[in-house]
Amino acid sequence: MIIKTAKPLVNGEWLFENRETIPVQNPYSGDTVGEQAIATIEDVEQALQSAVAAKKETAELPAHERSTILKKAASLLEERKEEFAKLLSIELGKTVKNTRDEVARSLETLEQSAEEAKRLTGETIPGSPSTRGEHATAMTFRVPMGVIAAITPFNAPLNLMVHKIGPAFAGGNTIILKPAPQTPLIAAAFVELLLEAGYPRNAIQVVYGGVEIGQKIVEDPRTNLVSFTGGIKGGKDISNRSGMKKVLLELGGNAGTIVHEDADIERAATLCAKTGFSNSGQSCISVQRIYVHTAVLEKFSEILTAKVKSLKTGDPIDPETDVGTLVDEPAAQRVKSWVDEAKEQGANILTGGNINKASLEPTVIYKPKKQAKVVCEEVFGPVVSIIPYDDIDQALDEVNNSDTGLQAGIFSNSLSVIQKATNALDVGGVIINGTSNFRLDHWPYGGVKNSGIGREGPRFAIQEMTEMKMVVQLDR
Ligand code: SIN
Repeated sequence: MIIKTAKPLVNGEWLFENRETIPVQNPYSGDTVGEQAIATIEDVEQALQSAVAAKKETAELPAHERSTILKKAASLLEERKEEFAKLLSIELGKTVKNTRDEVARSLETLEQSAEEAKRLTGETIPGSPSTRGEHATAMTFRVPMGVIAAITPFNAPLNLMVHKIGPAFAGGNTIILKPAPQTPLIAAAFVELLLEAGYPRNAIQVVYGGVEIGQKIVEDPRTNLVSFTGGIKGGKDISNRSGMKKVLLELGGNAGTIVHEDADIERAATLCAKTGFSNSGQSCISVQRIYVHTAVLEKFSEILTAKVKSLKTGDPIDPETDVGTLVDEPAAQRVKSWVDEAKEQGANILTGGNINKASLEPTVIYKPKKQAKVVCEEVFGPVVSIIPYDDIDQALDEVNNSDTGLQAGIFSNSLSVIQKATNALDVGGVIINGTSNFRLDHWPYGGVKNSGIGREGPRFAIQEMTEMKMVVQLDR
């Protein structure tokens, strides 16, 4: 049954007639649950023109009005949180346990964006430190960048979309949104909610479709900034196509978490079981490589395996289910083939490893080879690997032995070990006594190396999405 149709929104009009439509399937049941109308290249051209035309009006909306609209959107989302959680679960195969969390986080992201809209301030810088500046004063202001392209992913499609729209609008920008092709329905529902909250109809354009649509938006000189969350390959392509325009990239990682010999092993295993398998591991900071000191290897592996075995799999919409499907069957097949490769190379599979359509059993791999894909690449599936170490320096080197660096976790009760780790780990965020997969939405989030450029979190994203403008006053 079709429960929603996602239609492009261009120049304030919903487009549907004469557009190609593509069905949206529930990855668990295979049922068609919606459809998306694909934007044409002409629609994208129209979207660019409309976004440019709305720039002045959007920039001139007072900050308190932008803030009020975002707050209103948050209160509407609060009223409809269950409806959104269910839609998200049906479209993505993410458990309703997880989608309720995602909606709650999206609410906070909206509220924080509303607050940050009122906190855009500048500085007064006296000229007198310079011998030529005794009679001069500079003031800085944050001004909108103009048109922001928001290209959003499927894995947390609501919250990661809000992380772009919230700060972009708070900063007075117009937006062209291109949601992930796998999750158009939640995008459509959220944009409808925004309009109901009083969001200016012409300040957001929404286009559904594939890479060629994204490429046109990214390459076009009328787009002032591109904010993308997705894979490394996509991020590099966007960076190459963007020319001189600013890009914000939130890309992948093969996150490492260290469990040192003096850690609380029960706590470490509990958190690894929870945060390695939430959203079926489809998060850029999902626990993937767990480096465990040999002194606690057996105990940790036993507890973790027992906890992972107890995770309930099944229909994502059932509130008791812990682990749902992957985004689609090809994704599940790819991850399974990586598990098989690790096994063929000599690793033990402590639990899991079997596939059923788009579902892969929660899987724990013991001692994979360094060159196994489950170690070197981003799994983006419900799979963790246990890798032993003897010496903390060795563990830190191995976590850093990656071309990505988003977040890492370390469990230890030793101050010197924690200090060493926080200094050595080459990542955007270190989580002490927690796993790599812990994020609060107001914190700065982003990575080093191939994990991206820039930081999200409304306070930080709004800085990225505005320009500093200096005004100088000369007394004489
Ligand atoms: C991501 O996959 O980067 C998002 C993680 C999160 O927001 O928890």
